[in-house]
Amino acid sequence: MNNIIFIAPPAAGKGTMSSLISNKYFIPHISTGDLLRNKIKEDNEEAKTISDEIAKGNLISDEIVNNLVRERLSLADADSGFILDGYPRTLNQATKLDELLRELNKEKIIVIYLDVDKKTAQKRALSRLVCSKCHKIYNITIEEAKPTVDGICDQCGTLLDFRPDDTEESFNKRFETYLLETEPLLKYYDNKKVLYKVNSKDTKTTFEAIERIMMGQK
Ligand code: AP5
Ligand code: MG
Repeated sequence: MNNIIFIAPPAAGKGTMSSLISNKYFIPHISTGDLLRNKIKEDNEEAKTISDEIAKGNLISDEIVNNLVRERLSLADADSGFILDGYPRTLNQATKLDELLRELNKEKIIVIYLDVDKKTAQKRALSRLVCSKCHKIYNITIEEAKPTVDGICDQCGTLLDFRPDDTEESFNKRFETYLLETEPLLKYYDNKKVLYKVNSKDTKTTFEAIERIMMGQK
């Protein structure tokens, strides 16, 4: 099954797992966080608002995010599958996504919940480095997630940076928002019998558990 949705707290590993799946199975990785960060590069008022809200750890309006996802999921490369990383995050987004998937004939989905405790997630967020150009994710405290050359992206050679929202304050806000707005979606998808829970342990074990779910072995 190649229509995958990740629901998880900040820094649970949504981006990391999506990228591993995408590279191995050639399925497009659609991260609303990355789509919004790309939008910030535009020089206009909306970009400034989005940038400020992300830095504070607040959600961006459903309307903006729903439109971005509609546009991206309608592209031809999503015909044979997609990975949604960070969407939906509110009940409104989930119902809009249901409508869109019906329209696009992509209703068969699996929803993967990556379970991680707050302390572990916070530690991961505060030691994460990212490439602003190709969005590859690194971690300076996890051996297998370090870049080969300090501070340089293995994939495209760009200088790596911390994310502006990877501060303790913004992480706490994101986690709180996750509990309030996003965690209730677990029940929503469990009721539809499409939810699978994976403990976000080390990268290899977590990825293997996800592959078993994709193959229908779990
Ligand atoms: P987004 O970019 O989606 O941020 P997030 O949800 O806070 O999640 P993260 O990207 O921080 O974590 P992740 O789960 O991808 O973890 P990662 O793989 O990087 O959204 C940012 C902002 O955009 C939001 O706050 C909001 O403002 C806005 N936004 C986005 N979507 C929206 C929506 N739908 N509606 C409204 N607003 C929206 O891993 C983290 C670190 O841990 C890395 O360093 C990695 O190397 C390491 N790691 C990962 N997996 C493992 C593992 N299994 N073991 C050990 N280390 C691991
Ligand atoms: Mg991410």
